[in-house]
Amino acid sequence: MKIISVDTGNNQYDILIGSELLVKTGVKLKELGFSGKTVIITDMTVNELYGQVLESSLSGAGFETVVFTLEPGEKQKTLANAGRLFTHLSETLADRKTPVLAFGGGVIGDLAGFVAANFMRGLPLIQVPTTLLAQTDSSIGGKVAVDHGKLKNMVGAFYQPGLVISDVSLLKTLSPELLSDGLAEVIKYGVICNGNFFEYLEKNIARIKGFEKAVLEYIVYKSAAIKAGIVAQDEKDNGLRNILNFGHTVGHAIETVSNFTIGHGRAVGLGMLAAGQLSHKLGMFSPNDLARLKKIIGQAGLPVTLPDFKIELILQAMQHDKKVTGGKVRFILAAGIGEAVISDGVSLSLVEQVLSDWNEKT
Ligand SMILES: NC(=O)c1ccc[n+]([C@@H]2O[C@H](COP(=O)([O-])OP(=O)(O)OC[C@H]3O[C@@H](n4cnc5c(N)ncnc54)[C@H](O)[C@@H]3O)[C@@H](O)[C@H]2O)c1
Ligand SMILES: [Zn+2]
Repeated sequence: MKIISVDTGNNQYDILIGSELLVKTGVKLKELGFSGKTVIITDMTVNELYGQVLESSLSGAGFETVVFTLEPGEKQKTLANAGRLFTHLSETLADRKTPVLAFGGGVIGDLAGFVAANFMRGLPLIQVPTTLLAQTDSSIGGKVAVDHGKLKNMVGAFYQPGLVISDVSLLKTLSPELLSDGLAEVIKYGVICNGNFFEYLEKNIARIKGFEKAVLEYIVYKSAAIKAGIVAQDEKDNGLRNILNFGHTVGHAIETVSNFTIGHGRAVGLGMLAAGQLSHKLGMFSPNDLARLKKIIGQAGLPVTLPDFKIELILQAMQHDKKVTGGKVRFILAAGIGEAVISDGVSLSLVEQVLSDWNEKT
């Protein structure tokens, strides 16, 4: 097992990464001083696959456990569901010391995190992420939220967990699509700050796709360490943390225009290619860097051709995004593989050019 200790200045917590960790959850919570009641928030798929293991681990350590199970999917990340969970928590007589376990992918992590952050002004939150995306990204950094209206993550908070338990053996049941989606963020970490890690991904992509535990453990560990390191320096997203948005400016716009039929990871893969091409046009990213980026994204099972959307719509969606001001877009560019650059000076017309050229070529 590997341990990453995160210190944001205001909060300190550990991220545990390894195989067969879920069975140790009860013991780990006891070590943190918890006792009595615990609340698990999960979805039906995860509960069916692994619910029993988690519940026995908790009861084995003397905890009384209450489980709330939601349907799987982004549509569940709503204020209405948060409201239902608040009601359940009141009925369960949860008190301020009752830990809430967010047991699932990023949807459950964000929703359960939001509920934990707000119920009685804050219950302890334990993240038990079960997708590659949740283990490498959403469970770390303390952003919790629900969607509102058409807007994703509109209502939320910064709320750090007390512990993150990432059991990579749970990843074996992920579909290849979900593995690819998570890989987009993993590749992103390599591009924005660690060229050696990017190279590791290039060399080991087949083993990753073969769900080899040791390789998965390594990529979850490296990704979590990179994200935790960035977040520790900028907990509230005022500066450096921006680089985590590499690929997300165009990526979010593609997600929106597709009406969320294109998954986040797939959209971020395309967004990273857009950012790579922009960086290249601005003289920062060599043709070789661009070719490597395109190759690994394709090998990860993510698309590399722009879907047949009107470019105008992508640009419009980008302008609705909070990262756009006065015709200039805040873009995270890459100076090479392993180095991100924050730029406020990318013009929308250059973005338009990149997107149009890309379409013509494909
Ligand atoms: N808070 C943050 O910093 C942050 C960062 C990135 C993404 N997010 C959020 O994360 C969400 C996406 O997360 P996600 O991709 O994990 O989606 P998800 O939570 O919807 O999970 C995807 C699917 O995988 C299933 N699943 C989960 N674990 C499984 C397992 N071990 N085996 C088989 N199936 C499993 C789930 O039931 C679900 O159907 C979005 O809502 C996004 O906004 C948050
Ligand atoms: Zn993302």
